[in-house]
Parts: sequence; structure tokens; C-alpha cells
Amino acid sequence: MYMHPLESLSADEIKTAAAIVKDGGELGEHGRFSSITLLEPPKDASTADRDAVALVYDRASGAASSVVVSLTKGAVVSSTPIPGSQPAYLLEEMAECIGLVKTDPRWIEAVRKRGVEDLDAVQCDPWPAGNFGDPDEDGRRLLRVVSYVRHFEEDNGYAHPIEGVVATVDVGRQEVLRVEDHGVIPVPSKCFNYAPSHVGQMRTDLKPLDITQPEGTSFTVDGNEIAWQKWRFRVSMHPLDGLVLHTVTIDGRSVLHRAGLGEMVVPYGETTPGHRWKNAFDSGELGLGRFPFLNSLELGCDCLGEIRYLDAVIANDQGDPITINNAICIHEEDYGILWKHFDSHTFTTEVRRSRRLVVSSIHTVGNYEYGFYWYFYLDGTMQLEVKLTGILQTMGVAPGETPVHSTLVAPQLGAPVHQHLFCFRLDFDIDGAENSVYETELSGEPVSDDNPFGNALLPTARLLRTESEAQRTADLSKGRQWRIVNPGRLNAVGQPTGYRLVPGASAAVLLASPEAAVHQRATFATKNLWVTPYAADESRAAGYPNLSAGGEGLPSYTAGDRPIENTDVVVWYSFGVNHVPRPEDWPVMPVEYAGFTLQPVGFFDQNPALDVPPSNGHCST
Ligand code: CO
Repeated sequence: MYMHPLESLSADEIKTAAAIVKDGGELGEHGRFSSITLLEPPKDASTADRDAVALVYDRASGAASSVVVSLTKGAVVSSTPIPGSQPAYLLEEMAECIGLVKTDPRWIEAVRKRGVEDLDAVQCDPWPAGNFGDPDEDGRRLLRVVSYVRHFEEDNGYAHPIEGVVATVDVGRQEVLRVEDHGVIPVPSKCFNYAPSHVGQMRTDLKPLDITQPEGTSFTVDGNEIAWQKWRFRVSMHPLDGLVLHTVTIDGRSVLHRAGLGEMVVPYGETTPGHRWKNAFDSGELGLGRFPFLNSLELGCDCLGEIRYLDAVIANDQGDPITINNAICIHEEDYGILWKHFDSHTFTTEVRRSRRLVVSSIHTVGNYEYGFYWYFYLDGTMQLEVKLTGILQTMGVAPGETPVHSTLVAPQLGAPVHQHLFCFRLDFDIDGAENSVYETELSGEPVSDDNPFGNALLPTARLLRTESEAQRTADLSKGRQWRIVNPGRLNAVGQPTGYRLVPGASAAVLLASPEAAVHQRATFATKNLWVTPYAADESRAAGYPNLSAGGEGLPSYTAGDRPIENTDVVVWYSFGVNHVPRPEDWPVMPVEYAGFTLQPVGFFDQNPALDVPPSNGHCST
């Protein structure tokens, strides 16, 4: 059966790939599959062959390798060791880690000191351990475990943190390396829950709001290809990159070859020993596109209206396919007005409704939920929005104390200040692969002969010629944006066709000190913009960040300061939220938004949405 080269791996293909790896002797006795993904073919490929790439991790030796297999030929194509790199944690390692902690006498003693006797009531959260240069920790496969008490099974444990107890666990050697006890702070006892049975009286004045499309949806889904209005693209779920768009075109013209999460990090700003090591790379350390992080979505709850879903098939640690039903939601939303004008000479009005196509997925990693939403609009605009929700990290605070690097969200309950920083890898192909990137700004000018009234507003566009010139931060006061153009394709006014990257209000960069370990490991987040020439093996903004000392990914990719002019450019955009928690974020956080917009600039010769028909007889008079 013919499958498009960018069609997601099927369950059978994942099974076949795992079998080829095993039969080829590439998986030792202690080998596990960190991931099995489609090896996306190069842009100019003419083959219909299907290849997969397995990231294999040997639990005994700690060695990782990348094994490429041909599904078409049923053979191993290549096997490349990845020295010094540790793939994302395995699900079985998380489970083992909790078992080791709960039977460790030092840890039992520490929680008993806090009056906790029932160990079944303790919720243990394993965290990526990071890398702080401690020689004791070198070469180990570590997790750090913090814990919480649940007063009953569904109780929100984050209301009752067991403060100051941190277990460091080596899941390679199956031992608890150490248990730190930084002194007893009473476990907050008040329960905070959010399910209706705990909230009490619910509102009674919300009337039903239904979205109906009696003639069906305006989009079609064929395999993983989606067509809506003039847009056409493919969508897939990647274990690390999450929701990925492929070959995005509008009106048959190329905009993006691929867009997905290149990495993310959540650095915490609390300096107390229970928290100062917390830096979660939910993509590279944890694999947010895998089971059990990737949510199965529920009609009428996660998405409303006429919905189509795509399932995601993801390999587990053993290389067996797991199907997550309804992992990707596709639907249309009304979005207010698209354009309007009332002609006061003729008293006629033209108004058009805006609507957008939404493609989304939601991932639960520990206490937090991340929703990734791609929006497509009728006027050629695209937008990426991250929705952040879930439960705050919490910290026990001694009675009467006010923390400095945390905010109090309830009595004796602090929530450490932190950032959520996302880096999207955007492989633009504006009307073809050869593109250039300009930084655009708007400035005033001093009074001169040409500017006698001093009212001048000067738009400037500066070509970014090299990787170092393209390491930039956002500046809302200057209206700074970045424009990706095709110098070889001119529009009606003789300018290169392009799209602009418009930063959102949430354009945070990493604020940790340059000496901080996270600064070395998440250098991608120290700038909003990076641009690299396309290279097939440069796909992760922080390389393999798990337990790494840093320097990988963008700082390494850009070290040679390559030219980026009129070539196949990849734009990396980092942004995010500075999260100073509010009492209103507790006990479950209303959605916080972050993202960016991609808008056509001279890509079209005029408003491309004039042909959107009026919704009914009243909208065109
Ligand atoms: Co937050």
C-alpha cells in the first residue's frame, strides 16, 4: 500500500522497526527504546521508501545509539553511537525510582520526622536531576524525588508538600544515592481540591453553548494531511517535538517545511535546597509526546464543535506501539470579524466573519498541563499558542514566614517563581527553500529638511547575514519583528515575498545567572531568535539535555557562525512566560497563554481574504 513519505508510522511499522533493530543485534539484553520515529525524508527526496529511526538506550552500559532502519527493505541501514548523551527517562525508570525511594530507610525516617506514617499516602514525584558538576553524580542515571501527602486517594498532594526532603536516585545502579533532609517545616494540612464534589455549590446560571455545523466541517482529513480553505499541510505527533506541522502551503505556495517544539525548559527561581535544582526540560528529558504524558482528548470538554481527531501511535520502552486515541484535535472556531467597512457615502456595509482552523494537543507532565494550539486563519495568518494550566509547584513555608523567591498562594504554602520557556524550530520554505531573514523595526527621526514636522516614522529592515548576527532578543518598544523572505520571488511592488514572525507579549528569555547550570544547558532560551542554515542532524535546541552539562544544540550548531543569507534557513524562536504565581493560580491554574504569530508580508499582492463570502444576507448591503 502506498503511504506518503510524511505519513506517521503505523503500529505495524513501529513493530517492524523494533523487530529489525532486535534481529540486527542492535538491542542488547538491557536495551530499551527511547523512541521510534519516522525518519523524515530530505526535501528533495524522490523515493517512496519508508525509514524509521530508533533511539536505543542500554540500561546496563548507559550507551545510547541512533539506529536507522529501512522498513521497505527490512534491514538496518546504520547504527550510530551517541557518546556521552542520555536520552529521555524511560517510563520504567520513573516507576522503579519511586519504589527505591519508598523502601529507603533514610527517606522513611525523614518523612516520619514530619509526622507522616502512612507511606501509601505519600505521592513521590521523580524529577530530572540536571547536572550541577557534582563528581559523586558524574556518569550516573539520576532522578531526584520530592514528595507530597494525600489525605485521601484523589486529594491534591501539592497542598501538602513534604518540604526539605530530596532523594537522589540512580536508576542505572538501582540505588538511592543520597537522601537530603534540610530540616523540618510542618506539612501544610489544609486540603485544596478542584473537583465538583469538593467545590460545593456550582454556578447555576450558565446556559448551554453549542457549536453546530449542520453541513459538516469545511476541512478534510486524509491520512495525516489536512486541507482547509487555501491551506494544506500534514500533522504528526513526535515523542520529543510534540505536535508537528509538515509541508504547510497556502494557495499551493510553500510557507513552512516543518514546525515543531525544538525544546522547552522550566527553570525555577527558588534558592532553598528542595527547589534550587529544578529545571525541567519537558521535551528532551521527559518526552512530552509519549505515553503517559500525551492526553487522549474528550469531545465537548477539551474541544467543542464539529471535531475530527487523529490518534497518535507511540513506541513504549519495549518498542511496542501504544495508540493514544484522539491525541490531536482538529476543528473550526468563529473568531469575531475578519474585516469590515461602512461606506458613509452610500450607507452600505461589507463585513466578513473570521474563523480559524485549530489543530491541538495537550500534554500532562507532572503537575503541569501544556496545550499546543496551531491556528490557521482565512487571511494567510498562522499562530502558535501554548496554553499553560494544571497545578503549581508548591513549597512548605514555616508559619509566619514570607518567602523571597516564592509567592504565598495559601497559608504556609509557597509557589516558587519560575519561567516556562519554549523554543520552536521553524523550517521556513517561503515560496521555496532559499530564504533570507531580516530584522524589522520602526523608529522616529529627528527634525531635518526632509522631516520638518518631526513626525517621521521610519520602518527599517536589516538583513541578518550570519548565525551570530541572528541571535536576537525581542523589543516591543521598537516593534521589532523578523521577516523571512524569498529573495528570488518578487511581489507586485517588486519586494521579495515573505512572512513575518511577530513576537507575542510573552517573549521572556532565561533570567538565571550566566554561572547557573541551567544557563549552559538551556542557552537556547537566552535569546528569542536564532537562525541556522538547514542541517539534517540539527533538530534539537539543547541537543540531548538529559543529565547533560550543556553546550549542546544551538550554541554548538552556531559556533561556526555560518552564513544564513539566501539559503535554506531554520528559524528558532524562543519565548515564554515569567510565572510569578498568584493565589488565583491555586489550586488549579486558569490557562495562561504564550506564543507567536506568522503573518504574510507581501506574500500576497492584496488582502487575500476578499473572496470570503458574506455569512448571510445582512452582512453585505
Ligand atoms: Co508556571
